[in-house]
Amino acid sequence: MLSLIGIGLNDEKDITVKGLEKVKAADYVYLENYTSKLQCSLETLEKFYGKAVVPVEREFVEDGTILMSQAGYQNIVLLIIGDVFSATTHIALTMMAKEKHIDFEIINNASVMNAIGITGLELYKFGKTTSIPFHESNTAYDIIKSNKLLHTLCLLDLVPKENKFMEASEAIEKLEKSGFNMKTKVVVCAQLGSKNPTILYTEAKNIKPLNIFPQCLIIPGDLHFIEKEALEGYSK
Ligand SMILES: C[S@@+](CC[C@H](N)C(=O)[O-])C[C@H]1O[C@@H](n2cnc3c(N)ncnc32)[C@H](O)[C@@H]1O
Repeated sequence: MLSLIGIGLNDEKDITVKGLEKVKAADYVYLENYTSKLQCSLETLEKFYGKAVVPVEREFVEDGTILMSQAGYQNIVLLIIGDVFSATTHIALTMMAKEKHIDFEIINNASVMNAIGITGLELYKFGKTTSIPFHESNTAYDIIKSNKLLHTLCLLDLVPKENKFMEASEAIEKLEKSGFNMKTKVVVCAQLGSKNPTILYTEAKNIKPLNIFPQCLIIPGDLHFIEKEALEGYSK
């Protein structure tokens, strides 16, 4: 059995009761360690779960061979920070499991995709989500434009194994190179799901490095007066 378990956004205690029961009963527990960042250490997770947790990188997960062969005769858990399906790669594992007739289950959790609701922006009014990569690219700017009146969530590149995370200020510099108007009011969120998340609403040109991670950037579209009022509470 392969269990894909979302462990939430913040720390060891964000796992669901159902998820924790599966972890405790597992033969092997892996942690997908390349699409996000928790606010606690691996040791803290292991202590709370009472299990060894093995961090794994993209090649291991996307290849899937070891996961599939173990899941054929053991209880294998793959932990995913946030929710299982808020990264592009994990649906492939369920398709692989189906093809190989391996039992699998999904245990969902909170994701950055819904935690951004704290800004006051209506989740139903978001357009296509985009990523801002470390390398040069105009894609994010084009998606912001194509979302027109809808809000745009920009996920920021990261390389957790090198402790490398993009600042929203760096993402904005990249957008400026593509032609983004620096007078646009944007929302920066850091460490959503924690006790003290940082949320800033100000003109793009005012965004400075925060040095707390992970961060995401939202380009608001057309604002309902209630959204505007909520955002003003985060004005700097
Ligand atoms: C692939 S995405 C989402 C991964 C995760 N599975 C989830 O459900 O949230 C990772 C990106 O989301 C954003 N992100 C993730 N967690 C965040 C948080 N707690 N606060 C702010 N942004 C976050 C960052 O831009 C990060 O690079």
